[in-house]
Amino acid sequence: MPMIHECVMTTVGANGLTHLAPLGLIEQGEFWVIAPFRPSTTLANLESQPFATASFIDDVRIIAGCVCGRGDWPLEPAPGWSPPRLAAALSHAELEVVRNEADPQRPRFFCHVKKIVAHRPFLGFNRAQAAVVEAAILVTRLGLLPPEKIAAEIAYLKIAVDKTAGPAEREAWDLLMAKINDYRPLQP
Ligand SMILES: Cc1cc2nc3c(=O)[nH]c(=O)nc-3n(C[C@H](O)[C@H](O)[C@H](O)COP(=O)(O)O)c2cc1C
Repeated sequence: MPMIHECVMTTVGANGLTHLAPLGLIEQGEFWVIAPFRPSTTLANLESQPFATASFIDDVRIIAGCVCGRGDWPLEPAPGWSPPRLAAALSHAELEVVRNEADPQRPRFFCHVKKIVAHRPFLGFNRAQAAVVEAAILVTRLGLLPPEKIAAEIAYLKIAVDKTAGPAEREAWDLLMAKINDYRPLQP
């Protein structure tokens, strides 16, 4: 399996609007691959404008916020490059799509990494941050996974949050838990 870097991806649509989405960036040889599911704004944007900016962050409130409906996080222009990066980015990568593999469910956009720029120090791994990222992925799969599996995974992830979270991680966790607790599946 290839290495996947979790990031927040900025893309720009045909309407000129900037869009943020947490995405896994897949390392594949000399390329980094963006694989958005259909339908998604990220996919439509990449089909319209073949450029993306990956922001690598440690403020997991942004990831939690994006999957809970808050996508208006502060951006900074990247000099000479569009789309902009997250203002909170520790580093960002500027990606140009050079090849596109069609797929009915999950097309793959092969990107050339034009530049990687560092902005702030990385202060080490934090288990609560990793737990928030995992819980955010569960939130995007609420309609796909059985409730018992979600409950079991959350119970395990909560251990790391209880032991190692700072205020930002706790805020992100609480947002995700509210989303999970409020979730009601559509009745058939
Ligand atoms: C850590 C993380 C990684 C994700 N990776 C992907 C991915 O690789 N592809 C994808 O389609 N969605 C992924 N998602 C879900 C998207 O963020 C989410 O579905 C988003 O709404 C994409 O749709 P949009 O472009 O319409 O916003 C991921 C979510 C999280 C929290």
